[in-house]
Amino acid sequence: MAARYRNQNCFLYQALNILICALKLGILIFGPMEIDSFFFWHFYLVCQGVTNRLNLLGTKEDHYRNMVKTYSNCTVVLENLEITYMEDHCDLSFLRSIREVGGYVLIALNTASRIPLENLRIIRGHSLYEGKYALSVISNYNKSTYQGTNELLLTSLTEILKGGIKFGNNQLCNVETIQWYDIVSADNTSRKCDSSCFNGSCWAPGPQNCQTLTKLNCAQQCSKRCKGPSPIDCCNEHCAAGCTGPRAEDCLACRDFQDNGVCKDSCPGLLRYDPNLHQLVPNPHGKYSFGATCVKTCPRNYVVSDHGACVRTCSGNTYEVEEGGVRKCAKCDGLCPKVCNGLGTGDLAHTLSINATNIGSFKNCTKINGNIGIFHTSIHGDKYTKTPKMDPAQLDVFKTVKEITGYLWIQTWPESRSSLSPFENLEVIRGRTKRGSRSMVVSGLSITYLGLRSLKEISDGDVFVSRNMDLCYTNANHWQKLFKSPIQSATIEDNASAATCAQRNDTCDRKCTTDGCWGPGPDMCFSCRDYSRDGSWRHLSDYGLFCVSRCPQGVPGEDDTLVWKYADEQKVCQLCHKNCTQG
Ligand SMILES: *[C@@H]1O[C@H](CO)[C@@H](O)[C@H](O)[C@H]1NC(C)=O
Ligand SMILES: *[C@@H]1O[C@H](CO)[C@@H](O)[C@H](O)[C@H]1NC(C)=O
Ligand SMILES: *[C@@H]1O[C@H](CO)[C@@H](O)[C@H](O)[C@H]1NC(C)=O
Ligand SMILES: *[C@@H]1O[C@H](CO)[C@@H](O)[C@H](O)[C@H]1NC(C)=O
Ligand SMILES: *[C@@H]1O[C@H](CO)[C@@H](O)[C@H](O)[C@H]1NC(C)=O
Ligand SMILES: *[C@@H]1O[C@H](CO)[C@@H](O)[C@H](O)[C@H]1NC(C)=O
Ligand SMILES: *[C@@H]1O[C@H](CO)[C@@H](O)[C@H](O)[C@H]1NC(C)=O
Ligand SMILES: *[C@@H]1O[C@H](CO)[C@@H](O)[C@H](O)[C@H]1NC(C)=O
Ligand SMILES: *[C@@H]1O[C@H](CO)[C@@H](O)[C@H](O)[C@H]1NC(C)=O
Repeated sequence: MAARYRNQNCFLYQALNILICALKLGILIFGPMEIDSFFFWHFYLVCQGVTNRLNLLGTKEDHYRNMVKTYSNCTVVLENLEITYMEDHCDLSFLRSIREVGGYVLIALNTASRIPLENLRIIRGHSLYEGKYALSVISNYNKSTYQGTNELLLTSLTEILKGGIKFGNNQLCNVETIQWYDIVSADNTSRKCDSSCFNGSCWAPGPQNCQTLTKLNCAQQCSKRCKGPSPIDCCNEHCAAGCTGPRAEDCLACRDFQDNGVCKDSCPGLLRYDPNLHQLVPNPHGKYSFGATCVKTCPRNYVVSDHGACVRTCSGNTYEVEEGGVRKCAKCDGLCPKVCNGLGTGDLAHTLSINATNIGSFKNCTKINGNIGIFHTSIHGDKYTKTPKMDPAQLDVFKTVKEITGYLWIQTWPESRSSLSPFENLEVIRGRTKRGSRSMVVSGLSITYLGLRSLKEISDGDVFVSRNMDLCYTNANHWQKLFKSPIQSATIEDNASAATCAQRNDTCDRKCTTDGCWGPGPDMCFSCRDYSRDGSWRHLSDYGLFCVSRCPQGVPGEDDTLVWKYADEQKVCQLCHKNCTQG
């Protein structure tokens, strides 16, 4: 089943088609590219770690079980290593596998006499306890029973990349003999050791518990760490913790990244410059950074950030998408997608109307899972449910909404607003839930135009636009184009008469085709007589669809480039290929 692989310290497990390599760096060389994330998780070599601080999770027994589950078989803890509330009867041997910690190490409130962390080499300090400490060893002592931890075995610890050290309220032996200055990167913050220990520094009695010095006794020529006092003992500059030889392959741990057993300052880029093409092209040898390791694919449940790192959640102005089978963080076009509960779902399951109490929950929403209903109580308040009146300006919260999965029902509207402009970016009403057969109702309002200029689809349900006495720009035929099923119907009745509208000059802009429009001005046309300015519907960040008499010809765009567009068969302006310089 296992075969030695290419003279390396690796074994190919054919049954699983994976390659396992024992490495002095503590992490494995990944085998066949497609399988390394599987590989990773299957063997629990990397674990996430926790941030519970001093909290006790359940009973002390629960707490212990949780700790065993978190750290068993783990060699690299990505976040923090927290050892708390461990008592003498607990078997702590599971801690022996840990070699690297990405965040901080907290050892607190334990009474177990010995804490075995003999293999921990490096604490990176990417997150710090109390914002300051990479290693905190506090209150490992019970004042009433006089029980406490007296041996903390950190015999391999030779590097803390960032952060300080805090010891307090302990009953630890030998810690005062440790030369912390050899371990920490930052500025300096000392019973009896075995006679063989250098300079009398140790973690516990016995020759196996001497402190290993990899910095204080280095030759002057060494830039960082060394394995002995002579100049030939200097470690490579990319090493952390120490080394077994001078090369970047000989490090005990890597300062920045570990790529296939070699320490580097960064992972191989995902793009490389092609001198023939004069442009960046995908690098077939590119890798993602995952903790302090370079990987060919991100582990399952991780996404690729825009910096080529494997992350758990997309942050900043990015959101998760799947692209070519890879889950990535993509830049949001305008606001990042945000799904919110509408009426009939989640915390609004039993709420009848949008009102001053709940409207705040729609901030930044782009998709409403459920319904939107605006009734008398929405605007005017309601004594029985102690709902206050709504400020009409609050309705603008819906300007970010592009999709409603249920219905849109508007039966009351502020007198001061002449259109449904808060819904001007709404693109689709799905009608998955309806009231009766209706998925869109606009009734009894004093608006003069609808203004729903982005609406492209009503997937199911009927439309009912009625008793809006001042409403112009209505056209029953237009709705058919938005429907997805032949049984959907539109009822448009009791609006202002065509004569009244013409007299008020409430008619479509002359740039619109005879199909009609959602309201006044060239940005409200259903379709354009000449060309529409932009093929894509770029709301929120741009002006939306506009009718123009010709497509942009060499107008200044982003990054000092000129934008050239041409009209396609649908009379929509499309971007010319970026190589074109004259349109
Ligand atoms: C740790 O690995 C051993 C085998 O190497 C396995 O039997 C055990 O179940 C693992 N423990 C956990 C918590 O995964
Ligand atoms: C100290 O030990 C006593 C007796 O076992 C226990 O009741 C108490 O909770 C312990 N105190 C702490 C701070 O662990
Ligand atoms: C390091 O700390 C010790 C004990 O606090 C102190 O005596 C020594 O001077 C410090 N060394 C440096 C370089 O700050
Ligand atoms: C050894 O200890 C002495 C006294 O504590 C100190 O002066 C000296 O710098 C130490 N040597 C090293 C290499 O740390
Ligand atoms: C207003 O919203 C709150 C919170 O969602 C809800 O409890 C209340 O019933 C609503 N009032 C009306 C009249 O819909
Ligand atoms: C809404 O989005 C803005 C801009 O991205 C952000 O600053 C704000 O915190 C968000 N508010 C909520 C409640 O999500
Ligand atoms: C108002 O509605 C009627 C149908 O009741 C329709 O025929 C008429 O064209 C509409 N008026 C305007 C100005 O759109
Ligand atoms: C109607 O609007 C057009 C342009 O939109 C304008 O030229 C005309 O003067 C307006 N007529 C009235 C009566 O307001
Ligand atoms: C665009 O220009 C680049 C570099 O000059 C060239 O390699 C590429 O083939 C061109 N693309 C097209 C579609 O002509």
